[in-house]
Amino acid sequence: MKIGIIGSGGREHAICQILNNSNKIDKIFCFPGNAGTSKIAQNIDIDLENFINLKKYIIDNKIDLIIVGPEKPLVDGLVDYLEKFNIKVFGPNKIASQLEGSKIFTKNLCRKFNIPTADFGVFTNREDAKKFLININFPTVIKADNLASGKGVYICNNKIEAEKAINEIFDGKFGKAESLLIEEYLDGEEMSFFTIHDEKTFKNFGTAQDHKRVLEGDKGKNTGGMGAYSPSRLINKDLEKKIIEKIIKPTLNGLSEIGSGYKGFLYTGLMIIKNEPFLIEYNVRMGDPECQTILPKLKTNLLDIINACCTNELDKLKIEWLNKKSLCVVLCSKGYPEKYKKNIQIENIDKIKLSENEFMFHAGTSKIDNKIYSIGGRVLNFVCLSESFKDAKKNVMDNLERLNWSNGFYRKDIGYKAID
Ligand code: AMP
Ligand code: GLY
Repeated sequence: MKIGIIGSGGREHAICQILNNSNKIDKIFCFPGNAGTSKIAQNIDIDLENFINLKKYIIDNKIDLIIVGPEKPLVDGLVDYLEKFNIKVFGPNKIASQLEGSKIFTKNLCRKFNIPTADFGVFTNREDAKKFLININFPTVIKADNLASGKGVYICNNKIEAEKAINEIFDGKFGKAESLLIEEYLDGEEMSFFTIHDEKTFKNFGTAQDHKRVLEGDKGKNTGGMGAYSPSRLINKDLEKKIIEKIIKPTLNGLSEIGSGYKGFLYTGLMIIKNEPFLIEYNVRMGDPECQTILPKLKTNLLDIINACCTNELDKLKIEWLNKKSLCVVLCSKGYPEKYKKNIQIENIDKIKLSENEFMFHAGTSKIDNKIYSIGGRVLNFVCLSESFKDAKKNVMDNLERLNWSNGFYRKDIGYKAID
C-alpha cells in the first residue's frame, strides 16, 4: 500500500514512523513532512491549500490512503473534497470539524445536549462584550471563535486585561472576528482524552496531560505544547465512563442530528474538578505532542486500525497497548512562542543513539546537504517509555543534554505532577 500523510510536525513524524513498522506499506509520502520523515518517506513540498494539485498528485501516484494530521485542512474540508474523487481519507469531514473550527458551534452543542462545560456568552461586538464584564467574577476566559493555533485564548485576571483581549480579538489578531466567547473560569486540572472513530463506533486511544505554557511551573504564554506524559494521572474507570456518557456520546448524537458521522481521531480537552469532567475544547485530530507520547505505546498495527476506521470495521478490532509510562519533552527554538531564529544547524544530532524505548521525532526541521537545521518554533520531540515516569524523564533529559543545542530550550519540569 502507498500512504500519504498531510502535515509537517512531530505528530506527523510519529504517525509516519509507527506506520513504517507495517510490512503492508510499500511507500509513504509526506505533504510536506520534515527532516525526520525524509529518512523514511518521500517529502512532497506542495501547497496544502491547493486541493486540486494535491488531489492530482495523489491520483497520479496511486496513493491508497491519506491521513490528515493537522486541523486546518480538516476544517477547510479536505476530507470531503478528496472523497468526492473516491480517495480513501482518514479524518473527519467539514461539518464534524467545526467541533474544532468554531468554539461557538461546540458551545451551542454543549448547551443543547447538556454537556458539562464552562458557562459562556457569545458576543458579536466589543461594546456588548465590555458591558458584560461589569457584573462578572475574575479570572474570566475570553476566546476568539476561529482557529488560532491555540493562541486565541486569554485568561484575564481583571477588567483591564479583559478589555484588551476583547479589543485584540475584534481588531483581527486571530483573523476576521465576527464574535467572541466569554467563559466562566474552571479551576481544576486538565486532561486530554483521545478516541478513534469510524462512522459507527469508537474506541479509546489513550489519555495524556500536556504542558501548554512556555515556562516551568505552567507559567507564561500558551504554546502548541512543551511536553506531555501518558497516561494522565487523573484517569480512572469512573471518570472514563463519565467522559464517554456525558460528553462524547451526546456530541456524536449532536453531529448525527445535523447529518454527520465522525471518522478520525477526536481529542477531548477536559478540565477535571473533583473527578467530574468539563469540556474545554474539542480538537478533531491527535494532539501534538500527545500523539508522539501515545503512539509509541501502541501494540496493534496502526495501519490496521486506520483501515478499519475507513471501512467501518473498527468494532472488529481490539486495540492493545504496552503497559508503560511515556513522557515527551519538546525542544524549542529560543524565543518561541514569540520571535525566534530559523535555519540554525543542530550540530550534535548524529550523536543521539536511541535505545529500544527511546524516540526522537522531528518537528520544525529541514535537511540540507545532510545537515539538519531548525525551521520552526518546536523543533524536536524526545520521548521515552519506561516502567515509571521518573525513569522515562531521566532518559529524555540525558538525550537532551547530549544534544546540547545552543539555540534551543526546553522545560525541565514536564510531568512534575505525576513524578512527585
Ligand atoms: P483552548 O484553546 O480552548 O484549549 O484553551 C487553551 C487553554 O486555556 C486550555 O488548555 C486551558 O488551560 C485554558 N482554558 C480554556 N478555557 C478555560 C476555562 N473555561 N477555564 C479555565 N481555563 C481554561
Ligand atoms: N497539545 C495541544 C494540541 O495539540 O492542541
